Amino acid sequence: MDDLSTTPRFSGRFMLRPFRRRDADGLTEAVRASRQELNEWLPWAHLNYSKGDAANYIRDSIKSWREDRAYDFAVRPLDDPDRHVGNISVWFISRSFKTGEIGYWVRTDETARGVATEIAARALGIAFDELKMHRVILRIAVGNRASERVAEKLGFFREGILREEIKVRGKWLDHSVWGLLEHEYRKNANLYRDLVGVVDEVVEQ
Ligand SMILES: CC(C)(COP(=O)(O)OP(=O)(O)OC[C@H]1O[C@@H](n2cnc3c(N)ncnc32)[C@H](O)[C@@H]1OP(=O)(O)O)[C@@H](O)C(=O)NCCC(=O)NCCS
Repeated sequence: MDDLSTTPRFSGRFMLRPFRRRDADGLTEAVRASRQELNEWLPWAHLNYSKGDAANYIRDSIKSWREDRAYDFAVRPLDDPDRHVGNISVWFISRSFKTGEIGYWVRTDETARGVATEIAARALGIAFDELKMHRVILRIAVGNRASERVAEKLGFFREGILREEIKVRGKWLDHSVWGLLEHEYRKNANLYRDLVGVVDEVVEQ
């Protein structure tokens, strides 16, 4: 189907592009370098994460994109395109009601520099402008203050709690649900433009 173009998207500092099979080494290195922090909140991020796990993820990601189930992006700095900085994904929860979700992670040695906020602001453009979503949510484990800050900076509203929704390291965690509606996104267009930054389109090698 391919509802969404596979061309790279850009923000002020980053390129967001679909995964390729040869990204497995870069993805493995980034996850392994961040495994303590990722393991705290993300069920897939076990401490022995291997190149096989990365290759499986990339295979599923390419298939999901082809089947229009989810759109995963590898995040690469414009000035260092071989370095894997993190992932961001957009997917529909309900196509009929135009509701979608965004998920992300950033490698630990790049955190607290506004990366997640910038790439998530760019992903909101994909959700609202390209996929024509009406509502976008983030689900954030209760206690994950860094991710809650990202949601706050992006203007999301904290809507409620899903009790014991995921199991991480053998423990059930509650999720808070954060929502943003299309008209709120349009009303704050300047905020998102500023967060995405000045975009210089770069031709990919
Ligand atoms: C959560 C995560 C994506 C944030 O990425 P990031 O690039 O550091 O995010 P940003 O720099 O855009 O913003 C982070 C904000 O959280 C703040 N922050 C970071 N750690 C914090 C903590 N322990 N307590 C309070 N605030 C914290 C930062 O200061 C910053 O806020 P500020 O701009 O007001 O100073 C990253 O830490 C990560 O990948 N964590 C592990 C996986 C994960 O939690 N993914 C999200 C699942 S919902």
